[in-house]
Amino acid sequence: MKIVIAADYRELSQMAAEIVAEQVRTNKNSVLGLATGSTPECMYAILSQMHRQDNLDFSGVITFNLDEYVGLAPDHPQSYHYYMKNHFFNQVNVKSCNINIPCAEKNNPEKVCLEYDQNINNSGGIDLQVLGIGTNGHIGFNEPDRFLSVDTHIVDLTEETIEANCRFFESKNEVPRRAVTMGVGSIMKAKKIMLLASGFHKAKAVKEMLSGKVTTELPASLLQLHHDPLVILDHEAASLLQAKE
Ligand code: PGA
Repeated sequence: MKIVIAADYRELSQMAAEIVAEQVRTNKNSVLGLATGSTPECMYAILSQMHRQDNLDFSGVITFNLDEYVGLAPDHPQSYHYYMKNHFFNQVNVKSCNINIPCAEKNNPEKVCLEYDQNINNSGGIDLQVLGIGTNGHIGFNEPDRFLSVDTHIVDLTEETIEANCRFFESKNEVPRRAVTMGVGSIMKAKKIMLLASGFHKAKAVKEMLSGKVTTELPASLLQLHHDPLVILDHEAASLLQAKE
């Protein structure tokens, strides 16, 4: 596993944006797996700037987002549909027909999940998957558990995730309790994976992710089994790694 430690959040975001840009320049029809959350916000801002200033072209790119809450309409300001439009899709030239975000608001969530994985496969599979990491080590919304699901599925969010995400809502009661997420199999099938982590609050999960042990109780630890993972950390997220050395 390749681990890069950036000086700060801005440098981490710049590195991440350059890797996505390189992927898109190398293959204009790249399939990108995209993440939401605070961590990739600045990466999306830099990519948007690259589009405006350097003509970085997303017109052939296909995107698949990792996850979405169940119970929020796509136009809800805290939905990941809204986040992606706001931070990225409205700023660049990804074609709307090439944008995929799971949505379990329809009648048949199981069908939605099945079709999501089929669409990923039909597009040729994800070339580069961007990931964040939860304070509990989740990736996407694959929460720590005795078992993890391989495919896209509906998940009950843990208290820790609800607590971590309530900063985006008026109150904890408003945080949805369920989500739809790509499974760990869908994520691990990506040709390249780039995980980003910033801040002291991620340091413990990062340390455990890189511990050399793989456990479903820390889903990000599965990345140690991937053939081409890149982890970009800022100094704060890497602080417990350095303490060990
Ligand atoms: P964050 O979330 O980027 O908002 O910290 C990451 C995650 O929960 O996967």
